[in-house]
Amino acid sequence: MLKQIQAGSGALFAVFVALHLVNTWLAGLGPAAYDGVQSVLRSVYQFAPVEALLLAALAVHLVVGIMRIVTEPKRQLSTRARWHRYAGFFLALFIGGHILAVRGSSWFYDVYPGFEGLAFSVAAVPAYFYPYYFLLGTAGFYHALNGLSIALPRLGLSFRLPTSGLKVATLGAAALMTVSLLGFGGVLFDVGNPADSPFAKLALEIVDGLAE
Ligand code: HEM
Repeated sequence: MLKQIQAGSGALFAVFVALHLVNTWLAGLGPAAYDGVQSVLRSVYQFAPVEALLLAALAVHLVVGIMRIVTEPKRQLSTRARWHRYAGFFLALFIGGHILAVRGSSWFYDVYPGFEGLAFSVAAVPAYFYPYYFLLGTAGFYHALNGLSIALPRLGLSFRLPTSGLKVATLGAAALMTVSLLGFGGVLFDVGNPADSPFAKLALEIVDGLAE
C-alpha cells in the first residue's frame, strides 16, 4: 500500500518537475523564452487547486519515503537505487527552502522572481547558487526520471528505462542545467543589472531586516 501511494504521489509531482525543468533549461535561450513560458505554466501550476494538489503530493511523497526507510531498514539497494536515494535526500533537504525562497516572495509580497530574480541570486552569491542550482536541477531530473520508471509499472503501466538510457539522459540534463546557469549568470548574453529587479530589492530588504 505504501509503495502504491509513493508511486502515485511521485508520478503526479514528476509532471510538474518535468515542466519546471524544461522551463529552467530555456534560460539558456534568454529571459524572454524563460519568462514567456513561465507565465503560461504559472497560470496552470499556481491555480490554487492545482498548486494545493501538487504540494500535497510532494508532502505525501516525502512522508511515505521516510516511513519506508524506517519500516524497511534492511532493503538491499542496487547502485541505481542508491543514487535515487541520495538524490531524494538532497531534494528533501533543500526543497522546503527552495519553495519558500522562490514561491514565498509571490505568496507573501506579490513579487515573482522570474529570470532576473535568478540572475540576481547567482550574481549575488555565485559560490553557493551555481552548485546549488546545478545539483537541484540534476538531482531533480534523475530522481523524477528513475522514479517514473519505478512508479509507472507499479501503477499498471509498462515502462522501464535501461540504466544506460538513464545515464545518458542525466548527463544531458546536467549539460542543459549548465547552459541555463551560464544564461542566468550573464555569460551567454547581457542580463542587465539584476540587482535592480523587484525580487533583488525584496531579498536585500529581508536580509537587511534580519541583520538589524
Ligand atoms: C535547478 C533548477 C531550478 C530552478 C532554477 C528553479 C526555480 C524556481 C522558480 C523561479 C520558482 C518560482 C516559479 C514561479 O514564480 O512561477 C520555483 C518554484 C518551485 N520549484 Fe523550482 N527550480 C528548480 C528546480 C526544482 C526542482 C528540481 C524541484 C522539485 C524537485 C522544484 C520544485 C519547485 C516547487 C514545488 C515550486 C513551487 C511551485 C508553486 O507552488 O508555484 N524546483 N522554482
